Amino acid sequence: MPAIVIIGAQWGDEGKGKATDLLGERVQWVVRYQGGNNAGHTVVLPDGQDFALHLIPSGILSPGVTNVIGNGVVVDPGVLLDELAGLEGRGVDTSRLLVSADAHLIMPYHVAIDKVTERYLGKAKIGTTGRGIGPCYQDKVARVGVRVQDLLDEKILRQKVEAALAFKNQVLVKVYNRRALDANQVVDSVLEQGERFRHRIADTRLLLNQALERGETVLLEGSQGTLLDVDHGTYPFVTSSNPTSGGAAIGSGLGPNRITTVLGILKAYTTRVGSGPFPSELHDEMGERLRKTGGEFGVTTGRSRRTGWFDSVIARYATRVNGITDYFLTKLDVLSGLERIPVCVAYEVDGERVDEMPMTQTDVHHAKPVYEELPGWWEDISHCRSFDELPANARAYVHRLEELSGARVSAIGVGPGREQTIVRHQIA
Ligand code: IMP
Repeated sequence: MPAIVIIGAQWGDEGKGKATDLLGERVQWVVRYQGGNNAGHTVVLPDGQDFALHLIPSGILSPGVTNVIGNGVVVDPGVLLDELAGLEGRGVDTSRLLVSADAHLIMPYHVAIDKVTERYLGKAKIGTTGRGIGPCYQDKVARVGVRVQDLLDEKILRQKVEAALAFKNQVLVKVYNRRALDANQVVDSVLEQGERFRHRIADTRLLLNQALERGETVLLEGSQGTLLDVDHGTYPFVTSSNPTSGGAAIGSGLGPNRITTVLGILKAYTTRVGSGPFPSELHDEMGERLRKTGGEFGVTTGRSRRTGWFDSVIARYATRVNGITDYFLTKLDVLSGLERIPVCVAYEVDGERVDEMPMTQTDVHHAKPVYEELPGWWEDISHCRSFDELPANARAYVHRLEELSGARVSAIGVGPGREQTIVRHQIA
């Protein structure tokens, strides 16, 4: 009966796919509950080749798992169809993918507006992925959005797109000096796309609740991360949805008391893409080394990620706002070969030490890291499969991170391979 949430504890890209692999056969349902094709993870296909997924839950590669794009997700229908075609073309069975009738659709005007607003913001830009995510969520909250279920009712769809474009076209043409979009063309094209996945449209909240009643296990897969949450993140440099665990209930239609485990994914150091504060960021060759060794380049945009030391202020914050029960510490192997490893234990803000996330954006921007240095290890740890096999200093690093973060580290990633994981405590 458990519902398990997997959530990034930092700014995303913590390696959530590894955790999904770990839970593997115990899971019957994998659900995306927020975000859209701003996310990205690489999966290894049965033919051994890599494939980048942005929208479809990672469970699509596990036979017998039903995958759900939940009501909290924003769906670009073209991207959905392309990903499906890509998977099918390589022999993956995609029949077990359902899309919530209540999920919102990313329309062509959302993508156009995302791109122009970023350009307009200039130096103050957020560094979005340019996929129309923010403008789509704006329309959802403004109650002028188009939902997946509207694809089933052409008349309603036309009304909604015409109403939206009456305003959006003014903005595109008069503010941004772009071409207006033709409502009929937009409607015809999404209707044609909708026809190709209408058999997947479902009342997924009912199905998920029924699955839990039957004693099945549901994995709720967060995208992005805690610090990119529109409420709890480094606003305004955030995404437009709620990746934190509370968002899992909203974005899937499950009651919060159904969630029994919240697994936080924590990288052994820190990365971020896009703009915004990052107190423990490194601008020197050490940052470059983490980027190269850790392969820190975005799956969705190919941008290089900003890198820095582990920040325990952030980890403590993530533990608290998500109610994290267990951590999966990823990429510990990337830190091998360092003499000493600094860990940010607190911030100094305008001359004062603060141990918890500052209350105001101004203070977060002023925060300077206070470091504690831990001894490093030289050994290659990528072959270790039990905690005891790790060098003493690597074990000490994990213990210190546990203390600082306030939750146990139940699993540790020591390499990119599925089997390169150390399990310390059974999760869920
Ligand atoms: P948006 O989600 O495209 O609106 O972008 C908002 C912010 O979230 C930008 O800083 C993006 O770089 C960041 N972002 C969005 N998706 C991801 C992700 O999957 N990993 C890391 N950062 C992300």
